Amino acid sequence: MYIGVDYYPEHWPVTRWATDAKLMHDAGFNVVRLAEFAWSRLEPAEGQFDFKWLDDALAILAQQGISAVLGTPTAVMPAWVAHKYPETLATEKNGTRIAWGMRKNNCFTSGTYRLLSERITRAMAEHFAATPNVIGWQTDNEFGDPQCFCDTCRAEFHEWLRRRYGTTDALNTAWGTHFWGHQVSQWDEITLPASNDTFNPSQCLDWKRFQSWLNVRFQADQLRILRATCPKQFVTHNLMGFFKELNYYDLATDLDFVAWDNYPIWEEVGKRWFDSAAAGDLMRGLKNKPTWIMETNAGPGGWGKFGRNPYPGEMRAFAYQQIAHGAEGYVWFRWRTCTAGREQYWHGLLGHDGVPARRYQEAAQTAQELHRLAPILAGTTVQAEVAVLHDYESLWALDFQAGYEGNDTIGHIMRYCAALYRAGVGIDFVSPHCDISRYRVVIAPQLFILPDALADKLRDFVKAGGTLLTDLRSGVKNETNLCHDRTLPGKLSEVLGIRIEEYEARQRELPIVGSANLPGSATATLYSDWVIPGTAEVLAGYDAWHLQPYAAVTQNRFGKGHGFYVGTIAKEPAFYDRLIARVLGEAGIKPVLTPPPGVEMAIRRGAGKEVIFLLNSTDQPVTIAPPTGASDAQTGQPCKDSLTLDRFDVVVLLRKSAGHGSAGCP
Ligand code: GLA
Ligand code: ZN
Repeated sequence: MYIGVDYYPEHWPVTRWATDAKLMHDAGFNVVRLAEFAWSRLEPAEGQFDFKWLDDALAILAQQGISAVLGTPTAVMPAWVAHKYPETLATEKNGTRIAWGMRKNNCFTSGTYRLLSERITRAMAEHFAATPNVIGWQTDNEFGDPQCFCDTCRAEFHEWLRRRYGTTDALNTAWGTHFWGHQVSQWDEITLPASNDTFNPSQCLDWKRFQSWLNVRFQADQLRILRATCPKQFVTHNLMGFFKELNYYDLATDLDFVAWDNYPIWEEVGKRWFDSAAAGDLMRGLKNKPTWIMETNAGPGGWGKFGRNPYPGEMRAFAYQQIAHGAEGYVWFRWRTCTAGREQYWHGLLGHDGVPARRYQEAAQTAQELHRLAPILAGTTVQAEVAVLHDYESLWALDFQAGYEGNDTIGHIMRYCAALYRAGVGIDFVSPHCDISRYRVVIAPQLFILPDALADKLRDFVKAGGTLLTDLRSGVKNETNLCHDRTLPGKLSEVLGIRIEEYEARQRELPIVGSANLPGSATATLYSDWVIPGTAEVLAGYDAWHLQPYAAVTQNRFGKGHGFYVGTIAKEPAFYDRLIARVLGEAGIKPVLTPPPGVEMAIRRGAGKEVIFLLNSTDQPVTIAPPTGASDAQTGQPCKDSLTLDRFDVVVLLRKSAGHGSAGCP
């Protein structure tokens, strides 16, 4: 297992490097990520390369048995690039060039920038291909920014549209340009959407697709060079969990594995716990492979102001959580807090003073524990029976047209995910292109863009015995972001056994009243479909005179499976707990145990065993009855009837298991 830190030797005197490497080694670290912002040090003037300092740093690290992942340094262009080739800087909507001085400020269609990026990538690749402790590469850093509105971007967008649609007539149809008389007859007439709130939503969606494609292409330029020159070294990128501006399925396709940056320690204790779990599941699902954490909280974070400190045990708990969700590399950001620049307050394991203290000790303890755990984890992975559909295009389209005030798309997905985790059930996130047939349950929250082929796939899934849960705003749009001209939920009507003729955004909250099969009441907020049940059973309705005939939640038997529909948003998490309990019951899924509040149970299976992680996300001790037949993974001692987990503590248990079989989206 690779465990370590993001390290910037170039920020410190050479005389300090050996001390750093020794401290890292003593902590049990065996990897660092280096150089992702060091372009100006690696190519101080055009075509003049200086790799000596990085060779020296790598050699000192090698002496301590520490490997390195090198970043291609293209996330920050050197001053000479911006000065000599101003066209490499992105242009803002108002036509002005971004001022050089931050990072991620390049235009992705600038031929000059692509050439310069390829040149530094090739020079580094050739130089470090044979360096024994360089094990891999990170392309750039956190792809996502910026959007550029320059003339070459516009011309490339036209080219991209021409490839997609062939003729402007086809584009006019796809975009519905008859509205407001927006027909075009030449590609050159097409402008860039200056605002996602006022321009044609179909145009906005294609612009977003194009932006995503530009980033993927830029990465592909580097991948080609790295693959050809460094066949023994892996290539990854540091993605950002639920960041949704790029299609991460596309960005991940040609990487060896996904690495990502997880910063869950911000708000009060436990608040981001399940977000971090779900982000881990999402990132694992991009390639259905183990991931690395390439950056994570090592201290208070912030640029101008900083947040709270990770409390004792918290960094360790989050590390175990990610290992439980499928990570096999773990890298803290950063080694030592920098004394200069914008991130002076983004604290590392060491403070400005470079003295190893509490946070260093905790990371060291964690590293040593995880190294001991690694052989126990061998051959295991998350094997979920529940899939959550993650569709970037629906997320983008909902960004342009939220539909109702307060539509927090990712927060909404989390309503279901959190309920599943609370129930002790693991999740895979899957793309709309995944073969879902091996799952028992598919949850598709706000599946706004629903092409016919996807609707057919969901229908086949239910018919064959799967359980589908979908909800409000699903099936509204087609793939070019036009509204389907069918009664909602369109092609899913039969599967769900309902019709929706009317709907409304909701200012006033209303009571939701359950039934024998979904007991209890809750509060409807934000939005209501006026759901007309056909063949579906009404699981919950509204206590409001005008909504009496309509359902809030329905369940339909279709083929051998079930289709659930939720036409509103409930305020209470407990509502989602009851709903998920019903869904799991109908699908025949029984968790190993239901953990007490504040405790997450996450399981890795394989090689005939089950590794059960019990993670206390709170700063209070909790007591838990462990599953039968389990023993402590480290000591092999059989479990007692009751275990007490101290604040943020973690227990790893082992049981024999046949497992569920396959893992992830094939
Ligand atoms: C991101 C970047 C890092 C650093 C941190 C903290 O994750 O990848 O370089 O800037 O944020 O701000
Ligand atoms: Zn541009």
